[in-house]
Amino acid sequence: MRIFSGIQPTGDKHLGNFIGGFRQYAQTQELGEGYFCIVDLHSITVEHDPRDLHDRTLDLFAMLIATGLDPERSTVFAQSHVTAHAEACWLLSAVTSYGQLGRMTQFKDKADRREFVSAGLFTYPVLMAGDILLYQTHRVPIGEDQRQHLELARDIAERFNARFGKTFVVPEGIYPDVGARIMDLQEPMRKMSTTGGTEQGTVKLLDEPDTIRRKFRSAVTDSGREIRRGDDKPGVSNLIDILAVATGRTPGEIEVAYDGSGYGDLKRDVGDAVVALLEPVRGRYLELRADEPELLRLLALGADKARAASTPTLEAMYERMGFVRLGQP
Ligand code: AMP
Ligand code: TRP
Repeated sequence: MRIFSGIQPTGDKHLGNFIGGFRQYAQTQELGEGYFCIVDLHSITVEHDPRDLHDRTLDLFAMLIATGLDPERSTVFAQSHVTAHAEACWLLSAVTSYGQLGRMTQFKDKADRREFVSAGLFTYPVLMAGDILLYQTHRVPIGEDQRQHLELARDIAERFNARFGKTFVVPEGIYPDVGARIMDLQEPMRKMSTTGGTEQGTVKLLDEPDTIRRKFRSAVTDSGREIRRGDDKPGVSNLIDILAVATGRTPGEIEVAYDGSGYGDLKRDVGDAVVALLEPVRGRYLELRADEPELLRLLALGADKARAASTPTLEAMYERMGFVRLGQP
């Protein structure tokens, strides 16, 4: 079975990314042949700083390894190192509906928030579909916010298969049971995010332990005093989910364990549990990030493996669409 996921080298990575992304990648790598892509081409769809893109690509690569991906066993690589991704995006744009792209909620949200809306922001889901389809992917571990993009990738695969003959596996998403949508600690009605959330409500993966504890201590809770999940209790529900993930218990077990305790106890324990979860990650990250030649060596290894795996699919796409091919040079 093939697994593929992508993550952008923008913004500081946070606890939501860890729970909805990194943690799932390390787990799903056990299911089969894993491809994990730093989607640097996606990062230029909103205004970016070239220096940042460069450094954050290396930061993210080190973080992927620090959170448990094995670059010798899985294929961990940067999208721009494998030109098939940009090519696949163009070819697939022929079978992507303009209307459907315009209905992507992420596009609408991001477009609403800026004056200059790039064409790339609009076509971004086509690039994402190419990422996934090039590897004949069966499963895509992602957070809830990417569900609509994955559905679009499935539609694109089906339309291409119907028009040009079976070329792609139609992929399925894998969403975490708990924590598919971690919310901002200060404003629990919106998702945790370094680009759209609050500073105090976003726990960054590289925050110092004291900062992490402080952010949890000042987390916004809800009215009432019971520790249980519910639509009327977004703050407490979020804390329960985070504690469940950090300690490997179910949210139900946590509700039972905290029956009769106060919000203060819960906030303190979640803070401690998250510190325990992230501390080893931070240590490994700092060590890896300091060795740039080794990171570049491993990136080159990933690029070679990804090129070998994606070339046959790209060739099949060109051939079935009727392009003249020149054969092996
Ligand atoms: P990004 O950093 O936007 O490329 O996202 C990387 C991964 O983290 C994707 O699979 C997202 O679905 C996931 N993710 C981002 N924010 C959250 C959040 N607040 N809760 C859960 N998962 C998230
Ligand atoms: N769009 C995804 C995000 O912002 C990142 C991404 C790009 C991705 N290509 C992908 C995720 C392919 C899964 C599979 O989070």
